[in-house]
Amino acid sequence: MKKILVINGPNLNLLGQREPGLYGHLTLAGINDRLKKLAETLNLEIFFIQSNHEGALVDAVQLVGSQYDGGILNAAAYTHTSLALRDAVLAIDKPVIEVHLTNPASREEFRQRSLLAGAASGLVAGFGARSYELALYWFAEES
Ligand code: DQA
Repeated sequence: MKKILVINGPNLNLLGQREPGLYGHLTLAGINDRLKKLAETLNLEIFFIQSNHEGALVDAVQLVGSQYDGGILNAAAYTHTSLALRDAVLAIDKPVIEVHLTNPASREEFRQRSLLAGAASGLVAGFGARSYELALYWFAEES
């Protein structure tokens, strides 16, 4: 069975209360519960990490390289700033899908550049919690 690690970055632990008009009312635990159920039906093993710290996210991406078959990464604000996370995605030999709840390309200019997009195997953005689910389908059916 394929093992997938879902990695969430800074402030995503506040989902549900954080700018609900943008990010919705589902908590991160709620999103993860939905993903767990979907993973079961897709015959995937799924694991979750959330951190507000850049280095911990780099560690998590490296873990994908050594212990998982792939990663789903919402690096949140670090998407737009972290060369270290980009290098981590490039350093491992496993597919990583970049996901976002919102569509950063339609938001402020400073969100329109992703340092990760060029390193990731794919990008799903703008579909709320479904962004993660679409990435999971890719792992089940295509990777
Ligand atoms: C986000 C988009 C980022 O620009 C922002 O910093 C986030 C969340 C999203 O999922 O839409 O924290 O990654």
